[in-house]
Amino acid sequence: MNKYSKIGIFDSGLGGLSVLNTVESLLKREGFIYIGDSLNAPYGTKTKDEVFELSKKICDALIAKDVKAIVIACNTATSAAVSKLRDLYDIPIIGMEPAIKPALKQTEGQVVVLATEMTLKESKFVNLVDKLEEGYRIAKLPAPEWVECVENHMGDEAYVKASVGQFLDAHIPNAQNLVLGCTHFIFLKDEIEKYYKGKVEIFDGNMGTALQLKNTLESMGLLLDEDIYQENEANRIEVINTKSDEYVSKSLNLLSILKRG
Ligand code: DGL
Repeated sequence: MNKYSKIGIFDSGLGGLSVLNTVESLLKREGFIYIGDSLNAPYGTKTKDEVFELSKKICDALIAKDVKAIVIACNTATSAAVSKLRDLYDIPIIGMEPAIKPALKQTEGQVVVLATEMTLKESKFVNLVDKLEEGYRIAKLPAPEWVECVENHMGDEAYVKASVGQFLDAHIPNAQNLVLGCTHFIFLKDEIEKYYKGKVEIFDGNMGTALQLKNTLESMGLLLDEDIYQENEANRIEVINTKSDEYVSKSLNLLSILKRG
């Protein structure tokens, strides 16, 4: 591994592509290998041990490809596995954190955090909220149907609209501000904004993670600041999916939609 090695990024499936997009927009000279574990998605309803084992398997695959750092582009896998993974590997492992601090700062009343059941019940999130003076203003809401929606129905506009509308009608028709604490949900951001007619502010942890990665690589002398990734540009971003080639195509398509903004 050296500074010309790629950066590894993984998620339970397609959600982490939103993190890859943010990281890549900040670190344009770097190479990336993204692994989406759609074969085993969702992670959010599995046990902590199962998520750790799945995450370890992916990290082993990324290490075998000589990556210089790993981004866990999944709040659930971060909650279940980040500390154990840091003990196992000697490269930097960067996780996700729901953006509840900035959300609280910019909200007078309640902030609703949408995430998987595991993220919301694990100690990482519980401790984060407990440490905040105004943690009592945080409400937790699991949304497993949205993981399924993003994993299997992106591109079907009618389905996505109905999935977002039905869920918000049933749980938070009048929310103030929201935190998307699951990387899959970022693909639903436009539809959520439309539902609230732009009156709700929506926060996510993607840029926080990207900045943490940048600072970490910089402090270790592993950042390609002046240099550029040495292989050809066509290989700079490699996308792998454990489910099928169709999911690789889906992923590339989602990435190009994100890039268009
Ligand atoms: N994308 C994952 C997250 O950020 C979770 C989706 C799942 O349940 O697999 O938590």
